[in-house]
Amino acid sequence: MTEPVVFITGGTDGIGFQAARMLVDLGYTVAIHGRDQQKLLNCQRALSDKVRVYCADLSDLEAVRSLAVEVADDFTKLDVLINNAGVLKASKTRAVSDRDLRFEVNTIAPYLLTQRLLPVIPKDGRVINLSSAAQAKVDFDALIKFRPMSDMDAYSQSKAAITMWSQELAAKYSEGPAFVSVNPGSLLGTKMVKEGFGIQGKDVTIGAEILVRLATDPEIQSHSGDYFCNDQGIYTAPDPCVSDHQARQKIMTLLDQITLNAPPG
Ligand SMILES: NC(=O)c1ccc[n+]([C@@H]2O[C@H](COP(=O)([O-])OP(=O)(O)OC[C@H]3O[C@@H](n4cnc5c(N)ncnc54)[C@H](OP(=O)(O)O)[C@@H]3O)[C@@H](O)[C@H]2O)c1
Repeated sequence: MTEPVVFITGGTDGIGFQAARMLVDLGYTVAIHGRDQQKLLNCQRALSDKVRVYCADLSDLEAVRSLAVEVADDFTKLDVLINNAGVLKASKTRAVSDRDLRFEVNTIAPYLLTQRLLPVIPKDGRVINLSSAAQAKVDFDALIKFRPMSDMDAYSQSKAAITMWSQELAAKYSEGPAFVSVNPGSLLGTKMVKEGFGIQGKDVTIGAEILVRLATDPEIQSHSGDYFCNDQGIYTAPDPCVSDHQARQKIMTLLDQITLNAPPG
C-alpha cells in the first residue's frame, strides 16, 4: 500500500511547516507549497529530501492555475489538501487583480486550487481549509473589487468566506471528498500573529496537531461541511454570518465568476 499523499499550502512557516514535519514523521508523502524558492529549499532540507516543493504566489491567480497543473501532474492521487497559506497584514493590500490581498490569498486562491485539484482527490480524500475564530459578514463589493478596509475586517471576511465555500462544496460533493474548515487555535505564536499583534503568542504545535488530526482522522467523511474550533476543541457552529444561505449562494456565484469565467491574469 502506498503512503497517503498530503499537499500543504503555506508549508514554509508557522502552523503549515510544523504540520508538514509531523506528517513526514508519520510516514506520509508530503508536498509543500511556498512563495519563496530559497525558503522552500531550506524547508525541504529541514524536513526530508523526499518532500516535494512548489513555488507560487497565491495572490496571483495565474500562478495558482500553474501550481494546480504542476501538482496534478506529479500526483495521480492526492489524499489530503490542506489550504493553509494565509495573510493578515501586508505592505501592499491590493492584489494584481484589483481585489483585496486577503480575499485573494485566503479565499479565492484556495477555492481555485481546490477546484483544479479535485480530479486527483479521491472520494475518500479530504480538503482541510484554514478558517479562524475571526469571521465577519462578507461585503460582496469588496470581494469583487478592492476597497480600503482594516486588516482585521478584510481578514475576518476572507475567513468567513472560506468557511462558506467549504460548506457549499461539502454539500455539492456529498459522496466525498470531505471538506472541513478549522480554526487552528487563536493567537498561536507564528509570524502572522507576532507581526500582526506584536505578541509572542501560544505554542504553534497546538495548530499543527489539529491539522495532523484532521488529516489522519479515519472518521473525517462524517464531518464533511463541519467547522472545527480548536479554541473549544470541538466541531461547532461557525459565526452566524457563515450560515446565511443567500450569502453563501452569492459567494459561490462570485467565486465561480472570478475563478472560472474571468480572463487569465
Ligand atoms: N496563528 C494563528 O493564531 C492563527 C489563527 C487562526 C487561523 N490561522 C490561519 O492559519 C494559517 C497559517 O497561518 P500561520 O499563523 O502559520 O501564519 P504564517 O506563519 O505567517 O504562515 C503563513 C504561510 O502562508 C504563506 N503565504 C502568505 N502569503 C502568501 C502568498 N501570497 N502566496 C503564497 N504563500 C503565502 C507564508 O509564506 P512565507 O513563508 O513566504 O511567509 C507561510 O508559509 C493561515 O491561514 C492563518 O490565517 C492562524
